[in-house]
Amino acid sequence: MGVVASAPAKVILFGEHFVVYGEPAIVLAIDTRAYAKIENRDDERLCLHSSNLNLSAYFEDGTFKVEQGNTREARMKFEPIRLAAERVLEMYGKHVGLNIEINSTVPVAAGLGSSAAVVAAVTAAAATLLSVKISKQDIFQITFEAEKIVHGTPSGIDPAISTFGGALLFQMDTGFKPLDVKMDIPLVIGDTGVERLTRVQVEKVRQVREKYPQVVEPMMFAAREIVLRAIDAIKKNDMNTLGDLMNINHALLYGLGVSDESLEWLINAARKAGAFGAKLTGAGGGGCMIALANDERLEQVLEAMKRAGGRTFTARKTDEGVRIEGA
Ligand code: PMV
Repeated sequence: MGVVASAPAKVILFGEHFVVYGEPAIVLAIDTRAYAKIENRDDERLCLHSSNLNLSAYFEDGTFKVEQGNTREARMKFEPIRLAAERVLEMYGKHVGLNIEINSTVPVAAGLGSSAAVVAAVTAAAATLLSVKISKQDIFQITFEAEKIVHGTPSGIDPAISTFGGALLFQMDTGFKPLDVKMDIPLVIGDTGVERLTRVQVEKVRQVREKYPQVVEPMMFAAREIVLRAIDAIKKNDMNTLGDLMNINHALLYGLGVSDESLEWLINAARKAGAFGAKLTGAGGGGCMIALANDERLEQVLEAMKRAGGRTFTARKTDEGVRIEGA
């Protein structure tokens, strides 16, 4: 018998990079989910398998053994999952073996929070399987701790959104505030397929800011204004304004040097095909972009982005954070 849990991926709708310097960002949980199935074992092994990454490995008595795939990759992907499973086992009070099966269609290393979604799902599934009482706050804390292995000093956006779902306004000094979003925000997501490291892109922005402080300061101010106006547009269900703000936000990110050719192709294709607006999402330098379109145009925007070379899918906001799918 096993337990399956899932957790959502995310997109940053506005404010990436500027958020590092204290400005606000708007983040949405999307209906693309990572799934984890966990079963008991008779021995003490922690066995992990990811079907989409073709990786299998196990941890036992301090040893790590890879059965399928590249050792370095398996270690990098599985270490945060192991940490989460260990935390749940500590709460359970004794060490038992588990089979952990990951199934996720969330693009990896593309800024959609795939690792946090996987870890949140694993934490919830393991706790349910072992009948450990766990709150969403606990799941968030464990996922946050695990994310630190992946990202060093993450903002906590990804663990928060995959645990709680919905929409969040995030700011460094005040943390997360849930945003009440009634508006349907239909998005087409385009994955350039170009993997990048968030840390490298953040460093790029740091250098530009250091070299041209008087130029970048007003851009920070503009980014804050964009978020404030976006909150207003969301309240008024105003797709046109939201699209314009996405375009302006992207222009700022482009100016900071975090767009690239692969993103520009997809963004231009989306706009030409009738999207209200399009921008990169997350750290940039590859990874994903998002386009906002109404239902009539969604399909043609998706097709245009696909023709421009993107791996594309549609996504909508979801209020469902981490959840148990079934036992
Ligand atoms: O790692 P990603 O692609 O989800 O995006 C990171 C967002 C940044 O603002 C660039 C960095 C951060 O820590 O907020």
